[in-house]
Amino acid sequence: MQHPLVKEILLTEEQIEKRVKELGDEVTKYYKSQEVKENTLILVGLLKGCVPFMAKLMSKIDYQCQTEYMKVSSYFGATQSSGKVNILLDLGIDIEGKTVLLVEDIIDTGLTIQYVKEYLESKNPKEVKVIALVDKPEGRKVDVELDWCGFSIPNKFVIGYGLDYDERFRNLPYVAVCDTDKLDDWKW
Ligand code: IMP
Ligand code: MG
Repeated sequence: MQHPLVKEILLTEEQIEKRVKELGDEVTKYYKSQEVKENTLILVGLLKGCVPFMAKLMSKIDYQCQTEYMKVSSYFGATQSSGKVNILLDLGIDIEGKTVLLVEDIIDTGLTIQYVKEYLESKNPKEVKVIALVDKPEGRKVDVELDWCGFSIPNKFVIGYGLDYDERFRNLPYVAVCDTDKLDDWKW
């Protein structure tokens, strides 16, 4: 049975699988055409939301990769971005001259990805590109360039496939619209 906070399934597991395979192919093709230091692409996933997408994506990239993670916070459990970004787990490696692909679950206001991208660029990598599973273009507050994106969706609060509401639902195998009308007096 579906959880009562799941209002509508937007992206099924099959749709996501198919799209991530396509993204993997595009990413592979692009990096094979580039000059990449040590022939190693540095994937930087943003925890915790990136986990299912990153796992699927990396298995579809036919190029030598190093997998790294950062953790930042900008949401604090609410369904609206606070606009403030804190680094909770920093990158533990030197990326100077390296080719980086930043992996994010969803782009809404763009504030998180803009902050992290500028932070990584300050370490003098050769290049930082951005890939996200889901984009909500209507939510944008800053102009950020997404190099690859799985799906564009309307400006609704979604859960599943890494996306949480109050740390729950990251394990759902699909992306669903959350029934936000029920959240005000919701008890876990
Ligand atoms: P931004 O800084 O507004 O672009 O928000 C990016 C971050 O907010 C993402 O990494 C998510 O953690 C979170 N986020 C944005 N929209 C949603 C959503 O619809 N569901 C769950 N998390 C979201
Ligand atoms: Mg996130």
